[in-house]
Amino acid sequence: MIKFTKKDQQILKQIISARRDIRGHHFNKKEISKEILDELLTSANNAPSVGFSQPWEFVIIKDEDKKEQIYKEFEKQNTKAKKIFESNELYKSLKLEGIKESYVNIAVLYKKPKSDVLGQTVQKKMGEYSVVCAIQNLWLSARSHNIGVGWVSILRAKKVKKILGISKEYKLISYLCVGYVDTFLDTPELETLGWEKKKSVKEVVRWV
Ligand SMILES: Cc1cc2nc3c(=O)[nH]c(=O)nc-3n(C[C@H](O)[C@H](O)[C@H](O)COP(=O)(O)O)c2cc1C
Repeated sequence: MIKFTKKDQQILKQIISARRDIRGHHFNKKEISKEILDELLTSANNAPSVGFSQPWEFVIIKDEDKKEQIYKEFEKQNTKAKKIFESNELYKSLKLEGIKESYVNIAVLYKKPKSDVLGQTVQKKMGEYSVVCAIQNLWLSARSHNIGVGWVSILRAKKVKKILGISKEYKLISYLCVGYVDTFLDTPELETLGWEKKKSVKEVVRWV
């Protein structure tokens, strides 16, 4: 049995609090070695999952043409989003992806089950939530290697799947931009820019 020390706890705490969502203006194109990429994916693959179903798959996108097509889809959807937020001038100036600037993109998929899954008989989304656990593992593992991750959600899943040739048995959970960065900000950008405030633990915990 591994027993962790106070120092280990401090390091984990630091990795968690120093994790950031990275957008295009902070990525650089420095190569991520195959060994390190495998390590991030192994961390993802070590996530908990409902009924130990491990319903995740990862599509690594290095091809610039595919990235370009995904970027065009982002631009289209973000133009619509700008209209939704038109009363807030700030939205227009936000950089909300790093598709082309990051070394690789990773599409994270949920493989829909063909038979009943232990633990998922009542709450049907548990498999999808398991995939999100894998994403968080990857995100933290990346941070421990000083690699940035940015989640891009302003995309139609159907369109992304078409561009990547992904079949119907999969659901797109996340589209990630992954790469080395010039800097990790200390504070979430949306907080610095005044879009949202960080909540305190007190605000989000209640006892009954
Ligand atoms: C499910 C999910 C979807 C997100 N989608 C986007 C996105 O489309 N574009 C973006 O710039 N950031 C996206 N983010 C990142 C958040 O904006 C970011 O996590 C938040 O501002 C807090 O900053 P931090 O991650 O650096 O702590 C997403 C994060 C999550 C968890």
